[in-house]
Order: sequence, then C-alpha cells, then structure tokens
Amino acid sequence: MKMLNNSLMLLPLLALAFAAVSSLQYSRHDFPPDFVFGSGTSAFQVEGAANEDGRTPSIWDVLAHAGHSGVVAGDVACDQYHKYKEDVKLMADIGLEAYRFSISWSRLLPSGREPVNPKGLQYYNNLIDELISHGIQPHVTLHHFDLPQTLEDEYGGWLSQESVRDFTAYADTCFKEFGDRVLHWTTINEANVFALGGYDQGVSPPARCSPPFGSNCSHGNSSIEPYIVVHNLLLAHASATNLYKKQYKYKQHGSVGISVYAYGTVPLTDSVEDKQATARVNDFYIGWILHPLVFGDYPETMRTNVGSRLPVFTKEESEQVKGAFDFVGVINYLAVYVKDNSSSLKPNPQDLITDTAAELTVFGNTSLENEHANAPWSLQQILLHIKESYENPPVYILENGQVTSHNSSLEDTTRIEYLSSYIEAVLHSLRKGSNVKGYFQWSLMDVFEIFGGFEKSYGLYYVDFKDPYLKRIPKLSAHWYSSLLMGTLHQPSHASS
Ligand SMILES: *[C@@H]1O[C@H](CO)[C@@H](O)[C@H](O)[C@H]1NC(C)=O
Ligand SMILES: *[C@@H]1O[C@H](CO)[C@@H](O)[C@H](O)[C@H]1NC(C)=O
Ligand SMILES: *[C@@H]1O[C@H](CO)[C@@H](O)[C@H](O)[C@H]1NC(C)=O
Ligand SMILES: *[C@@H]1O[C@H](CO)[C@@H](O)[C@H](O)[C@H]1NC(C)=O
Repeated sequence: MKMLNNSLMLLPLLALAFAAVSSLQYSRHDFPPDFVFGSGTSAFQVEGAANEDGRTPSIWDVLAHAGHSGVVAGDVACDQYHKYKEDVKLMADIGLEAYRFSISWSRLLPSGREPVNPKGLQYYNNLIDELISHGIQPHVTLHHFDLPQTLEDEYGGWLSQESVRDFTAYADTCFKEFGDRVLHWTTINEANVFALGGYDQGVSPPARCSPPFGSNCSHGNSSIEPYIVVHNLLLAHASATNLYKKQYKYKQHGSVGISVYAYGTVPLTDSVEDKQATARVNDFYIGWILHPLVFGDYPETMRTNVGSRLPVFTKEESEQVKGAFDFVGVINYLAVYVKDNSSSLKPNPQDLITDTAAELTVFGNTSLENEHANAPWSLQQILLHIKESYENPPVYILENGQVTSHNSSLEDTTRIEYLSSYIEAVLHSLRKGSNVKGYFQWSLMDVFEIFGGFEKSYGLYYVDFKDPYLKRIPKLSAHWYSSLLMGTLHQPSHASS
C-alpha cells in the first residue's frame, strides 16, 4: 500500500461520513485488476508558465486573452509546470493509478513544427518520469483545444488539410520522445465539441461562427466549418494512428484512441418522431466520430440532413480512417431529453443544431450545483450503445465528474454521490459486456475551466487561486476516491479500531 500523507491520516474519521453519503455495493476488487482508475487535467488548464521557456500561444491562449465570454487567462493556472513534483505526490497520496494530462503542442514545438524546444521536452520527460517512479501510468492527450496559434495564422488551422501533415509530425515527435514510457495516447480531445464550440457556436477556441448561430464572431461559417474541421481531425487522427501502427507499436506496444463527448439521451415522449430524433442525436454526436472510424463513412442520417455541406471521404481516405483506433475515449457529464424539431430542417441557412433537427433539454435542474445532474444511467447507456453499434471496442472513460462553484464546501458530498453512482454504472456496463478499460475522474484539482474559468470547479483538490503558492487542499471527494482505490471503503470497523 502507498504511503499516506498527513492530511490523509484523517481518513478513518471520515469513514462514517462516507457511509452516510454513499452506501456502496461494490469495491475496487469488483473491477478487473487491469482496469485503471485515474484522474485528469489538460495542459492549458493546469500548467501555467504560458510565456516561459520558449512556449508560444495556442488558440486557447488567444481566446482567453480576448476576455471572450467571461473567460480569464490561464497564464498561471495551477502552475503545474513548476509544481509537478508536488502534484505527482498528491496523486500518489490518493492512490491514483493513472494520470491523464495533455502535451502543449506549442510548448514542445513553438513554431508548430520541429525543431523541438529542449525546455519543453525536458518538462514532459520530467513529468512522465516522476509519474512512473510513483507507479502512475501516464495517459497522454495530444490536442486539447490548443492548436498552436502560429498554425491558425499561417493556414487557418484545422480548416486546412495542411493541419493533417503538421499534426502527424507532432505526434511522431511525441511517440519518438515519450513512447518508451507512454502506452496510452489520445489524439484529439472531444473532436465533436471542439468543432461545435469552436466553429458553430463560437464559444471556445478558435471562436469562429456566423449569424444567426453564433452571436459574436468576427470570422467563420457555422454552416460548413464544423464539418470541415471534424473531417480534418479524423484524417489527422487516422494519419497519426497509422504512423504509430507502422513505426512504433511493434516496439512500444502502446495504443492510440480519440475522444468523443457524449450525452445520455432520452426521448421526451414515446412518439416515433422523438425516438427517431434521439437516434439522430446519437448519430450526430457519437456517430460523427465513431461511424467513420468503424465503418469508413459518416452516418446515413448525417449524409441525408447535411447533404452537400458534409465533406465526402475519398476511397483512399475512407480506407485510412476505417479501423484507425485502438480504443475510444468517452467524455460524459450530462443527460438530455430529446424532442423532435424536424421543422428546423427547412429554413436556410443551417448549422449543426438545425441539421440535427432535435431540441435538447438538459436533464435535471439547471442551477449551478445541479448543472451536472446525477444521471448515472447515461454513462451505462453510452457504453452499451458503443458496444452494440460500434463492434464493442475498448473504451476508456476519459472524463466524468461533477461541477460545483469554486467557493463551495470542501465537504463535497454531492460530488461523492455523483462519482460513486457513475462508477457503479461503469461496473454494471462491464457486467453487461462493455469492453470498458478505465475510468478517469475530471479533474484532479480545480483548474481553469473552458466554460466557467476559475468560477466552476470539478477538482478532488481545491486550489486556492488567491494564494501566491496556489495551495492545494484535498476535498472530501479526494479522501473518498482514495479509499475506493485503496480498497478501504468497505472497512469502517478498521476506522474505529
Ligand atoms: C462580443 O465581442 C466583443 C468584442 O470582442 C466583446 O467586447 C463583447 O463582450 C462580446 N460579447 C459577448 C456577449 O460575448
Ligand atoms: C457559408 O458557406 C456556404 C457554402 O459555401 C455559403 O452558401 C454561405 O453563404 C456561407 N455563409 C456565410 C455566413 O458566409
Ligand atoms: C425548431 O427549429 C426552428 C427552426 O430552426 C427554430 O426556430 C426553433 O427555435 C426550434 N424549436 C425549438 C423548440 O428548438
Ligand atoms: C461563490 O461564488 C459565486 C460566483 O461563482 C458567487 O455568486 C457567490 O456569492 C460566492 N459565494 C460565497 C460564499 O463567496
């Protein structure tokens, strides 16, 4: 068993508190030994040191500096760039088995291409070595909303197929430099949401959109750009994955996947229209990414509704994309009710939302504390949908967690209820034959959130952003997750002895 630090010595006293909020029917031992439990962050959200040691801005830095939609800059964030040793110790203290983080492309390759920045290379080598020396598996994401701004300026970033070549070369550098120690690679984080937020609604980097869909963009075309971007993301993902298969897999034995944001979905009524709309939502969110990877083309509902605005895979592209993944990364927080809105297909112009022809209402209360209402069935539904519709690929849940306002109590019992019920849903899915391999809670600590800045938090550790040292304090959920991972959750009798 791993050493506990002082703050975690409180653990026995908290056992009764856990019992009150969570009557667990399962333990770590109910999951296969090679199932992995981790927690995650991403580069721009935790590293800070945005202008240090040769790093150049990403599209996210630029948007954060523009003060768009109340977002504040992540220049300092949690300062993990300087505090990685301390943070790895926090992970080891709670018994984390794996850490999901992302590499900042513009820290490693400040011009977007080689030459490599030696300080960036050193940082990621240090972080990876520190994790491994504590027995924590590194799970690395290559693109987490943070394309180098220089490539956005040079050729329009992901709107151009030139991005495929540059992403492949960046991935090659990462496989070459880190692949002796990193066995799990996610190419693109939330490919679907990156396109929807960044190119349709204009609320996330690079904040492109056109009226009437997005409200405040100086450039963009919501009718076509999201589809072009996902097409290029899929080609870039496939190119990097195929490179790994050809040149690295035989010696490094790792795996490569892509991540999708998925909702749990329920038809609002029993009507045929609402049921069809629900299937459409699954196609437009999950199928958009997975259908090409499994079957070599977009789902039929998308080809019908989007028509000529949907890029067409050439025969060669289709062959490259089909089968180009070892695992699927799933990101799930919310469930939605789905109501048919086929009338939205008629007027022009169109965007992703009108093409989907469905109205989504977030399940549960929409007030902040309940924004991510507890709907654990949604995770099971998604896992079983992927099993049944996409040939049961290996799946890692790469994000799941509960938002609270940053200043809410450290006794985050609602977060414990949320996590324990979703993890139980993962166990049920496993028992029903899902090929799910791991679960990553979001997030290890309170970070700079893409929607909500520093005001909204998911962390197991509270971060005091007003403290010059950015002190981290474990919340009750950190103790809870630790006791699940260390297999002590079932032993309150030990607690009182
Ligand atoms: C729209 O953009 C302008 C200029 O960047 C900014 O001042 C304004 O706050 C933005 N409005 C909204 C609603 O985001
Ligand atoms: C978006 O692109 C489509 C297809 O090229 C075009 O018909 C439409 O006018 C464009 N919309 C805007 C806002 O530029
Ligand atoms: C249905 O689609 C129409 C046309 O796009 C839109 O004006 C309307 O707001 C949508 N209805 C709902 C309830 O979302
Ligand atoms: C907590 O933060 C929210 C904004 O995120 C604010 O409205 C609220 O007043 C704060 N509460 C306390 C107790 O500081």
